[in-house]
Amino acid sequence: MKSKNNIQRIVKSLVLASTLGLSSVVSAGEVEVLHFWTSGGEAKSAAALKELLEAKGHQWRDFAVAGGGGDAAMTVLKSRAVAGNPPTAAQVKGPSIQEWGNEGVLANVSAVAAEGDWDNLLPSVVANVMKYEGDYVAAPVNVHRVNWLWANPAVFEQAGAALPNTWDEFFDAADKIKAAGLIPFAHGGQPWQDFTVFESIVLGTGGADLYNKVFVELDEASMKSDGMKKSFEILRRLNDYTDAGSPGRDWNVATGMVIEGKAAMQVMGDWAKGEFTNAGKMPGKDFVCMAAPGTADAFTFNIDSFIFFDQSDSGARDAQNALAATIMEPEFQQVFNVAKGSIPARLNMPREPFDACALTSMDDFVKTAETGGLVPSVAHGMAAYSAVAGAMSDVVTKFFNSDMSAEDAVAAYVTNVMEAKASL
Ligand code: BGC
Repeated sequence: MKSKNNIQRIVKSLVLASTLGLSSVVSAGEVEVLHFWTSGGEAKSAAALKELLEAKGHQWRDFAVAGGGGDAAMTVLKSRAVAGNPPTAAQVKGPSIQEWGNEGVLANVSAVAAEGDWDNLLPSVVANVMKYEGDYVAAPVNVHRVNWLWANPAVFEQAGAALPNTWDEFFDAADKIKAAGLIPFAHGGQPWQDFTVFESIVLGTGGADLYNKVFVELDEASMKSDGMKKSFEILRRLNDYTDAGSPGRDWNVATGMVIEGKAAMQVMGDWAKGEFTNAGKMPGKDFVCMAAPGTADAFTFNIDSFIFFDQSDSGARDAQNALAATIMEPEFQQVFNVAKGSIPARLNMPREPFDACALTSMDDFVKTAETGGLVPSVAHGMAAYSAVAGAMSDVVTKFFNSDMSAEDAVAAYVTNVMEAKASL
């Protein structure tokens, strides 16, 4: 496996570096936490964890690496590991947890999990991702839903447009909004954001069935299907409805355009809601959350979690265990998720503190788990190993930023993905 080999190299260097005396400088009772929550709403959410941990008498050393989607943070994490100095905990999720687990560098927090009854408090779809060979090596903070459309109702009213439930309706509305001199589609042109939009388009075009076949099962025939071609065509059309400032724009800046009424809509996971609420906006009044076009019966899940690195110092280990326990406590799961826009990973949490968007999410999470509409977000590292997801994302971004035809995009997509699959 290519990505595994990368990590193996990193870990070899890590062992070498620690024999040279470059081991972690985390002191007793301290946790150094690497994460990528740097926008307004995200920083507020991360602060909740810091405060609760410090209330237990431990110290939090913040290591925030800016960059939505976490690509930059993962690069920094690998180089920290290479330097023989991994943090105490890092925001890592999905199949990557297994990649790190394969190297034997993770701490086993099963004793904390047993004490906290995690097996009974987590849905099995969540618990399984947190375990490596049957032991807990990670703790989940939330469940984000990715297939959302965020809209500013005042902009729609001004343009005489209706909120869209399908992609045809989306483009009808977009034409009206554009004619009114406003930006229909707030988008940040970064590969992970292009891919976030594309996965929702595929879901809306071919349902959970096509989604699973092309993103999870890597089924070649499905990758060549009309549904994929149509999905690329829809992505292409979006180019006409965003603005000249889109390339390179951060996701939260794009959300800000919707908040301020400069743009009408954004397709983004519900961390965007953290920006609306952080700006004092009310769902249903100042902004609308609705399923991305054609995806009301589906739920793309994205579970944030922290992995824990082995500690030799017992004080650091105690602090690390306290962090793991705190993450699963009801108080943290509530305060954090209200601010973050997500829903708790922990079951049976009170509903009252959560707004209408979160309540829809909670209900749909349960419903889609039964109907088969619950799918892992590929753009957010939940569905495929990073090498495969990267191969997909490369084609999507190249297509979106060139005049490549949808047919050529499908062909390039199949070649890239099959190559990456073969290298695993
Ligand atoms: C993470 C979220 C984060 C978002 C933007 C997602 O991949 O799961 O927690 O807010 O990226 O950085």
